[in-house]
Amino acid sequence: MIIAIDGTLASGKGTIARRLSRWYGLPHMDTGRLYRATGVAAMNKGADFDDPDALAEVARSLDLNDYEEALLRTAEAGQAASKVAAIPAVRAALLELQRAFAHQPKGAVLDGRDIGTVVCPDADVKLWIDASVERRATRRWKELTEKGETLSLEDMIAQLKERDERDRNRQDAPMIAAADSVLIDTTHLTIDAAVDKVRAAVEAVIAQKPESSGP
Ligand code: DC
Repeated sequence: MIIAIDGTLASGKGTIARRLSRWYGLPHMDTGRLYRATGVAAMNKGADFDDPDALAEVARSLDLNDYEEALLRTAEAGQAASKVAAIPAVRAALLELQRAFAHQPKGAVLDGRDIGTVVCPDADVKLWIDASVERRATRRWKELTEKGETLSLEDMIAQLKERDERDRNRQDAPMIAAADSVLIDTTHLTIDAAVDKVRAAVEAVIAQKPESSGP
């Protein structure tokens, strides 16, 4: 069973994906990590962010073991990720990696922005997770300030809007809900309540697909 989870930044999709992966015993890929690692590697190498070929080469030669989680979670890494993610050659370089992961014998849970539309249009279950920009910015701001980053909530809201805009308006694989996805709004939900709702949605989709291979 392939579960595709897309949605906006800090909507809760990462936590939801990890919990579903545990619940159904499926491997999980956080595809944003690929773009973050590409962005960080490009910065480290001093690559020209206006040179698509150089950035695609960085993506092709990526070794995910090189990157500590904390390094990939900074606001700077997120900005760099959003920039490289807008480049078609970078997306092409990362596509096969994601598809190969999804098509393991048991299936997989993948979360990102274009899993249901581009990476796995054939996914058994597609979810779109969203929340208001203020709620998402507050969540991400708390996470970052707890880690010692200093930025105001207003700056966080502005950054989030800028990234949403870039992710939504890029030409290649823009961030958009697949037509056949189930929409979950987490604005007023705790993470546990959101996971319960998502699990119910997954069960409903599975129940409607008797031919599916099941969890
Ligand atoms: O989910 P995240 O914040 O870790 O993602 C980092 C950036 O990568 C974000 O700006 C969107 C981009 N991304 C993407 O374009 N496609 C994906 N499948 C996953 C992430």
